[in-house]
Amino acid sequence: MNSIHPFDALIPAPFSVEKRDGTIAPANLKTLHADPEFSGLAEEFVRLAAVFGIRLAVSSDPDADLVLRRNDSLEAEGWSIRVEPASILLESAGRAGMFYAFSAFAQMLFAAEIRGPASAVLPCGAVTDRPRFAWRSFLLDSARHFQTPATVKAVIRLLAHFRLNTFHWHLTDGQGWRIATDTVPPEANTAELTAGQYTRGELRDVAEFAAQHGIRIVPEIDIPGHSRGLLKACPQYACDPMSPGSEFCLGNPETIPFLKKVFAELLDIFPDSPVIHMGGDEADTAHWEKCPRCLAAMKASGCRDMRELENRFMIEMTRFLVERGRTPMLWGTCSGQTYPPDTILQSWLDIREPLRIAPNGNKIVYSIHNSLYFDYPENPSEPFETWMFELSEKGVYMTDPYITWEEKVKDAIFGTEACLWTEMVPEWRVMRKILPRLGAYAECAWSLPEKKLWHDYLRRKELLEAAGYYDYLLENCREKGKK
Ligand code: ACM
Ligand code: ZN
Repeated sequence: MNSIHPFDALIPAPFSVEKRDGTIAPANLKTLHADPEFSGLAEEFVRLAAVFGIRLAVSSDPDADLVLRRNDSLEAEGWSIRVEPASILLESAGRAGMFYAFSAFAQMLFAAEIRGPASAVLPCGAVTDRPRFAWRSFLLDSARHFQTPATVKAVIRLLAHFRLNTFHWHLTDGQGWRIATDTVPPEANTAELTAGQYTRGELRDVAEFAAQHGIRIVPEIDIPGHSRGLLKACPQYACDPMSPGSEFCLGNPETIPFLKKVFAELLDIFPDSPVIHMGGDEADTAHWEKCPRCLAAMKASGCRDMRELENRFMIEMTRFLVERGRTPMLWGTCSGQTYPPDTILQSWLDIREPLRIAPNGNKIVYSIHNSLYFDYPENPSEPFETWMFELSEKGVYMTDPYITWEEKVKDAIFGTEACLWTEMVPEWRVMRKILPRLGAYAECAWSLPEKKLWHDYLRRKELLEAAGYYDYLLENCREKGKK
């Protein structure tokens, strides 16, 4: 394979590229100047340059060889890199954009250096970039298998490197309750597959780390199902305390006040998270249908069935968030429920679901399992469960949130999310499940469809891999995660 022009080596593919005559040798970059708000990123550039044996000195002179400058005419997450014969200018309207410029610059350097440091040059020209979708998210399930805060931070940094901006943190499930709170007793953390719980301090520290990388955290407590551990510890909130199961009792008048206390603590731990996920998926109606209190509540509220009662229950819970200035997010389901229009729905199961949901006015995050669930095996030689489909890197790449929908549905879909569930993924498998498919996913979330070409992506990925970029990424993310 021939070398690729460094502007053509980027993942995800950028919005526009302009190539000019002339070059600059990275080895000639001696000084770096950063506008004050980017001074924290200067150290990142110095360390990146050091990987290639280049000693960059931070300078107060705005005429430095490498300049990080604020440019308010760019979009919120947009960025640009302009390469001139004697200097390189990186611009963005904010910190997230400058981190993206940093990560793109890293890819350019690896692509340039593959011919050997002595021949490495960056050609002149400009790359200007901005995202296709405002919501570019990745879910990590820390409930089934726990990950240390260092691993969680490494994942978050990896997301930022691929220009993603949202980290959906699945913190509770039947197999583990990973939030140390005052309201929920420690026994709720059955920790069936691995031990571990995050203290408030650790959760806040991870949130701070994410914010520094331009990433919003969407913490999730999954109700009214997926709650087996909690209900074992607090059986009074189950339909049958002798056999609590996984669902909260919808007819117990104490359930909602208890859950509001639990969520109030979550809001306190994550004061800067505008969106809070309340789950809402896969609750089994069997316990409710046999429970006198649930049956009485269904009758009293005039609901036709338990799904409708569940819907009422979730509406009341989502209102609790709205009253506190947060946006609720829920898993969409196939059961035809309707939610308040200010709820974001995450479509995961049914490819037709967005068509049904859009008329209610909800915004939709596209997350259909057979294209975006990273627990599914990339190839059949990996361990996997019977419920999983095969999901190759190409399968991820071919995903397009808009591909099948009518215009009015496109308006509702404002982003996408890939998910790493961890029933089969202990901490040591996390990174190998995420890479390399994350790059393919990032291109679906960030790049315009007309910039997406599978073979072109493969060429870029192969070059960056051969150049050592993916090794650098892993090392860089792990190292930063420890801090
Ligand atoms: C889900 O996969 N149960 C959201
Ligand atoms: Zn009940």
